[in-house]
Amino acid sequence: MSNIKIENQDSIRIITITRPDKLNALNRETIKDLGQAVSEAGSESSVKCIIITGEGEKAFVAGADISEFYQYNQEEAKNLSKVGHDTLFDLVENTEVPVIAAINGFALGGGLELAMSCHIRVASSNARMGLPEVSLGVIPGYGGTQRLAQLVGKGRALEMIASATMIKADDAHRMGLVNHVVEQEELINKSIELAKGIIKNSKTAIAAAIRCVNASYDKDVNGFDKEIEEFGKCFTSEDFKEGTAAFLEKRKPNFN
Ligand code: COA
Repeated sequence: MSNIKIENQDSIRIITITRPDKLNALNRETIKDLGQAVSEAGSESSVKCIIITGEGEKAFVAGADISEFYQYNQEEAKNLSKVGHDTLFDLVENTEVPVIAAINGFALGGGLELAMSCHIRVASSNARMGLPEVSLGVIPGYGGTQRLAQLVGKGRALEMIASATMIKADDAHRMGLVNHVVEQEELINKSIELAKGIIKNSKTAIAAAIRCVNASYDKDVNGFDKEIEEFGKCFTSEDFKEGTAAFLEKRKPNFN
């Protein structure tokens, strides 16, 4: 995994994309490495929250690697998009521990799409976000047409996509595209602080909540039915026994 760095802090896994000389652009190899790292983190019982960020002060990810795909034909392009969806973007969204994007600079094209597939977004004040694909004669191919509209509404999404413009972090915050904006030197601390607020809670209950929230965007699933089912299942968990016992005994819960 030569394009990423992995660190641990308590039960928080920090994954950093390390191609700063290419503004952390996502080539196939980086997509593979990142997907593998997220998949591993998601399956490790000790990991309770994941943070994804980019190395350097300039870019989170400046998009898919244009130099890699500019000569692709239709089939190759379709395959690039499908493999990206399956091995990284959908995988991140469906990871059952919360994934926080710490957006440390440009999040363009595939970079914004990566941030949008995460569950929570924190941006540094210098971050710039956009989906500039139509300026290259192509459309967002890693979920951008769907997830941007889900996060900011259809009108704003189509304006951003059709104009190919970049927006500033504060504007992204105003429209609900990012949860928090902080100065760059505070970005990782803020992301860790958010993660610490998450890891003290029940991992199994959070996983169920992620499945339910994601279900509301799946046209084949009734999200309310999913919630009813997952609510019932929580009552079979050790975490539920511990959480309710701790409340009744007036102590803090000790979840695994
Ligand atoms: N794919 C491949 N390489 C990229 C890249 C991308 N998406 N984004 C940046 N790079 C590379 C540049 O080619 C350059 O490499 P080089 O030094 O070998 O020439 C390096 O990263 C630095 O980028 P540069 O363009 O020189 O920085 P800048 O400060 O002048 O501009 C951006 C920054 C983000 C405005 C500009 O890099 C850019 O527009 N990138 C493409 C964004 C985009 O369209 N993304 C969607 C792709 S579908």
